[in-house]
Amino acid sequence: MIWLAGNKGMLGSDLEKLLKESGAGFISSDREVDISDIAAVEKFLGNRKIEWIINAAAYTDVDGSESDKETAFRVNAEAVRNLAETAAARSAGLVHISTDYIFDGKNKSGYSEDDKPSPINTYGMSKLKGEMYARDILPEHYIIRTSWLYGAGGRNFVFTMLDILGRKDEIKVVSDQRGSPTYSADLAGLLLNIISEKRLGFGTYNFSNGGSCSWYEFACAIYGMGMELGILKKEVNIVPVDTSAFPRPAARPAYSLLLKDKIKNSGITVRDWKDALGDFMRSAEFLKRAAGGEGIDNEIE
Ligand SMILES: NC(=O)c1ccc[n+]([C@@H]2O[C@H](COP(=O)([O-])OP(=O)(O)OC[C@H]3O[C@@H](n4cnc5c(N)ncnc54)[C@H](OP(=O)(O)O)[C@@H]3O)[C@@H](O)[C@H]2O)c1
Repeated sequence: MIWLAGNKGMLGSDLEKLLKESGAGFISSDREVDISDIAAVEKFLGNRKIEWIINAAAYTDVDGSESDKETAFRVNAEAVRNLAETAAARSAGLVHISTDYIFDGKNKSGYSEDDKPSPINTYGMSKLKGEMYARDILPEHYIIRTSWLYGAGGRNFVFTMLDILGRKDEIKVVSDQRGSPTYSADLAGLLLNIISEKRLGFGTYNFSNGGSCSWYEFACAIYGMGMELGILKKEVNIVPVDTSAFPRPAARPAYSLLLKDKIKNSGITVRDWKDALGDFMRSAEFLKRAAGGEGIDNEIE
C-alpha cells in the first residue's frame, strides 16, 4: 500500500491519476491530514500496512515563506521529519520531492546531486532542512529534486502566461534567470516507476525536463505553441527584462540548472522541455482548463 500525501496539489493530482490508472493499492490525503501533526498522521494511518510514503505535500509559496517562516519550516522540514519517522517505524520507504531552490544559482554550468546546497531564500532553506531530515532518519529514501514545475492541476507559469498573453499587447518577462521546466506528469511517471521497478538505488536524484531556458524563452515557447494550437490569436510583443524589473520578497537563484547525469546513467530517459510542453498544451486536461479561461496570478515556484 502506498500513501500519497498532497494529492490535491499540482504534482499530487498527477500522481493520483497515475496511481488510479496503474491499479496500485494506495490511500491519499491532503490538508485534511496535516503532515506536520504526527498525531494526525498516526490517526490517519492506524493499523494500515504502508510500504511507501510519497510526499507531494509542501508549502510552495516562495515569497510567502519570507513572511511566514514558521509555516515554511513546519511543512517543508518538520513534517518531513514526521514522515521519515513514520516510514521508519513502519518499515516503509519515503519518496520526497525537493527543489533547485536549495542552490544559490551562481554556478552557470548547473548543479549535480553532490554540489553543496546554499539556499538564498527561506523556502529553499526549509526544503533543504526537509532533505536533511529524510536523509538522516531513513536510509530507504528517494529525494527527487525538481524545478520550474507546471501541470494541469495547479497554479503555474504556463497558465499565468496564457492568461496575460490573451489579454495584453505587450508583456515583460524576466530573461536573466535560467532553469529547466518540468512537466508534472513526467515527474509523476518517474516517481511511480522508481517505486515499481526498484532498480534505482536509494538516495538523492535531480529530475527535470531536458535542456534549459530563461523565463522569457519559456514564455515565448508558450506563446508560439498557443498560437499554433489556436488558443492564442493575436500578436503580442514579449519583452525580455532583468529580475530587477520585478522586485519580490524572496531572492531567486539566477542559474538553477539541475544536472541529470546520475538519473540518466540509471537508464531513465529525460525528454526535452519543449517536447514536454507541447504534450502538455495538447493534453485534454490542459485544453479543458484553458477553455475555462482561468486567470491565475501565481508565484513562479
Ligand atoms: N511548483 C514548482 O515549481 C516546484 C519546483 C521545484 C520543486 N517543487 C516541489 O515539488 C513538490 C510538489 O509541488 P507542487 O507545486 O505540486 O505543490 P502544490 O501544488 O503547492 O501542492 C502541495 C499540496 O500540499 C498541501 N499541503 C500544504 N500544507 C500541508 C500540510 N501541512 N499537510 C498536508 N498537506 C499540505 C497543499 O494544500 P494547500 O494548497 O491548501 O496549501 C497542496 O495541496 C513540492 O515538494 C515542492 O516543493 C515544486
